[in-house]
Amino acid sequence: GKGAKEFDKEEVAKHRTKETGIWVTYKDGVYDVTKFVEQHPGGAARLMLAAGGAIDPFWAMYQQHNNDQVKGMLEEYRIGRLKGGAAAPVADPYANEPARLPALIVRSQKPMNSETPKELLVGSLITPNELFYVRNHLPVPHVDAATYRLRVEGEGVRTMELSLEELQTRFRRHSVTATLQCTGNRRNDFNLTQRPVKGLEWDGGSISTAVWSGVRLRDVLLAAGLEDDNPDVAHIQFEGLDTDMASQCYGASVEVDKAMDPQGDVLLAFEMKGAPLPADHGYPVRVVVPGVAGCRSVKWLGKIVASDQESASFWQRKDYKAFSPSVDWHNVDWESAPAIQNMPVTSHICEPLSGAAIDDDEVTVKGYAWSGGGQGIIRVDVSADGGATWHTAELNKVPQKRGRGWAWALWEATVPLPKGAKGAVQLVAKATDESYNTQPEQAAPIWNLRGVNCNSWHRVSVNVQ
Ligand code: MTE
Repeated sequence: GKGAKEFDKEEVAKHRTKETGIWVTYKDGVYDVTKFVEQHPGGAARLMLAAGGAIDPFWAMYQQHNNDQVKGMLEEYRIGRLKGGAAAPVADPYANEPARLPALIVRSQKPMNSETPKELLVGSLITPNELFYVRNHLPVPHVDAATYRLRVEGEGVRTMELSLEELQTRFRRHSVTATLQCTGNRRNDFNLTQRPVKGLEWDGGSISTAVWSGVRLRDVLLAAGLEDDNPDVAHIQFEGLDTDMASQCYGASVEVDKAMDPQGDVLLAFEMKGAPLPADHGYPVRVVVPGVAGCRSVKWLGKIVASDQESASFWQRKDYKAFSPSVDWHNVDWESAPAIQNMPVTSHICEPLSGAAIDDDEVTVKGYAWSGGGQGIIRVDVSADGGATWHTAELNKVPQKRGRGWAWALWEATVPLPKGAKGAVQLVAKATDESYNTQPEQAAPIWNLRGVNCNSWHRVSVNVQ
């Protein structure tokens, strides 16, 4: 039957192209994945790295593959068994991860992806460092601050290498209070539309706020000789020191206008709330791009490149983008949409939790609201009748100038429950930013295949006694 045939390694290694067919092995199975390559959510190029050999080391690195759904998909392509059986198990690339608080809600262990519990999000305007959400794509690199060098290169700049000490002493120090949010924050609300999306199952906790201290990216680029309005430079690319087994690093870029904007507040940060950056958040140096999707704030920063091109990384070109609900994995043209930079206005109810029992005639609702591009929050409206009537919440936020509202607002409203209400009551929140952008009512019309930029009204059902 299917899968009974035996192949040796040499035979498998001959199948590395469309013409010969693309084969891989996993444990002792041999698979012909030619038909699947183009649909690989991690990109065809990534899968091709494994063509003709074992995918085991790749799956050890990208452990989102380790679930029954993915394994079941692979089994559909089985053509036989590896002669001599499976190769020796692969060493775990995640063996040296930093310690983390058990309070974080883990969505994936390897790489670490964890969100801040909602009760703690609304606990303080500045999230405690140990509770700041973690979004890693690869194992945390261990960087020695003594030998660390930040390299600056590319168009219109002199190549420069800076030690941590030079970075800290040659440039003026700045502090910025900024919220980081993952583009996938609130992704679960798309799953509620009955049209599931691929990705980490983020609830509303992949967002946090810190006081970041460091030096301005602008100042470092100026020191490297970059001039404002240099026509040869359109993007500033960042490379992380975290790499996979093919030595591919995490990377992203932002537009040069944001990087060079004296009011853009883009930092090369080495401190979070006055303490050295924790290992999970980019020790010793990370980029912080206020107002922009978290994915562009590259951690463990190794290199800055001035270029006429965006970062060539998978995450810049083929991942953090949003499309029409009519686009799905079979017809997506990644080049047809720009990389997400500024994110849309959003809000989230953190208290009460879904299903909470309310034994009163009113309810106190708490949450956060944030908008991208420095558009501070001016108002949050809360409803206790599914959106028929609204109450304005009280805002708690750090003072920030118009256009530089990088930090979220926390908010609170005590709202009367509908007269005689019993059983399920829907609480709703929607925020408005200083450009009077507000949130769309429903998630379905903004559904997109990667499940990013979810910002529909946030709804929580409570149980009135
Ligand atoms: N930088 C590197 N080098 N590697 C990464 O995996 N993840 C990005 C960004 N920078 C990432 C990175 C993403 S998608 C987000 S949302 C933020 O870091 C998360 O930052 P945090 O883990 O400090 O919350």
